[in-house]
Amino acid sequence: MNLQQEGQITFEAEGAFYNPKMKLNRDIGVAMARALGLNEYLDALSASGIRGMRVAKEANVGKVTLNDICPIAHELILKNLAYNHLDCQATCGNANIMMHERHFQAVDLDPFGSPSPYITAASRCAAEYLFITATDTAPLCGAHLKSGIRKYMAKPLRTDYHREMGARILLGLAARELARWDKGFSPMLTHVTDHYVRTYLRVVKGAKAADDCLEALGYVEHCPACGSFALLQEPRPVGSCRHCHGKTLLSGPVWLGKIHEKDIILSAIHWLQESTRATRLLETCAQEEDLPMYYDHHSICERMKITPAKIDDIIDRLRSAGHRASRTHFCGLGLKTDALLLEIEDAAKST
Ligand SMILES: C[S@@+](CC[C@H](N)C(=O)[O-])C[C@H]1O[C@@H](n2cnc3c(N)ncnc32)[C@H](O)[C@@H]1O
Ligand SMILES: [Zn+2]
Repeated sequence: MNLQQEGQITFEAEGAFYNPKMKLNRDIGVAMARALGLNEYLDALSASGIRGMRVAKEANVGKVTLNDICPIAHELILKNLAYNHLDCQATCGNANIMMHERHFQAVDLDPFGSPSPYITAASRCAAEYLFITATDTAPLCGAHLKSGIRKYMAKPLRTDYHREMGARILLGLAARELARWDKGFSPMLTHVTDHYVRTYLRVVKGAKAADDCLEALGYVEHCPACGSFALLQEPRPVGSCRHCHGKTLLSGPVWLGKIHEKDIILSAIHWLQESTRATRLLETCAQEEDLPMYYDHHSICERMKITPAKIDDIIDRLRSAGHRASRTHFCGLGLKTDALLLEIEDAAKST
């Protein structure tokens, strides 16, 4: 027997999937569960059960269900629950069937690769919250174009802001899937860390909420020559760049609405235990301007053939000129702003 420890749980993972690098993801999941005061939670794809067990124990969630299709994982979950004296429900079945039959206050999807095969059923099943992890960043972020189109029914583009592109493509699919059940959502926290996208959605029932979410879908027109981008509500077959008049490429549909809810993030920070990396990440998320996409500071300076100044100085200049501007958790060199590329170039030149 090979016992491991994560958070307040002692468990065995042999025979089931367990990735210790995902601890940060689970730390934040526990903090979000506490911040939201959850009372019912489904870990639909549980493996060893670590995620759901931590939510039960550390976030004190009364009704937790741990499901996995694999009988070996299920046996392991039963053992791990016993080690930890936890009274959770453990089921062994296809998550899609279960999510079509029952409802849960909060549903968590943490699959191998893409969550796409589970989003329809999870959208039906989630009464108040839907949490999703996607580890297939190559299709989401445009590195595997055709796979991205198949899984997410959207065209990604590989750009400087590809990490956010991936997050917004996933949110775009969630909007369309929830809309099929007359539901909308409001994202509370969306982050891209290491090689995965993670989002926490508040589910809002009703046709109006669904329609509002579909309205927030749109397209990103990107200029490969100068890196400028524009947000569009409707796609147009051929576009030209407003910065350099070059030919643009189109990606989407993507979610163009907000991706964070600051109050909940601040409350989750309060509940984070000892994880300093998670705290830093959430602090950056809480402070970043909630605007779609970002520019890469060094790419801009490289194209302008100038030595990059401090990114914080450029942000200050843009703010003094009346723009919204901030760093972003998506990328250390990322610059989020409502300024045009021309205005960013001016700020970069004059620092
Ligand atoms: C990436 S692992 C889950 C990791 C876990 N959530 C954690 O934090 O450690 C994905 C799990 O999904 C299970 N699985 C795959 N397809 C499934 C399905 N259709 N229904 C239920 N479980 C499924 C696999 O057996 C595997 O244990
Ligand atoms: Zn251009």
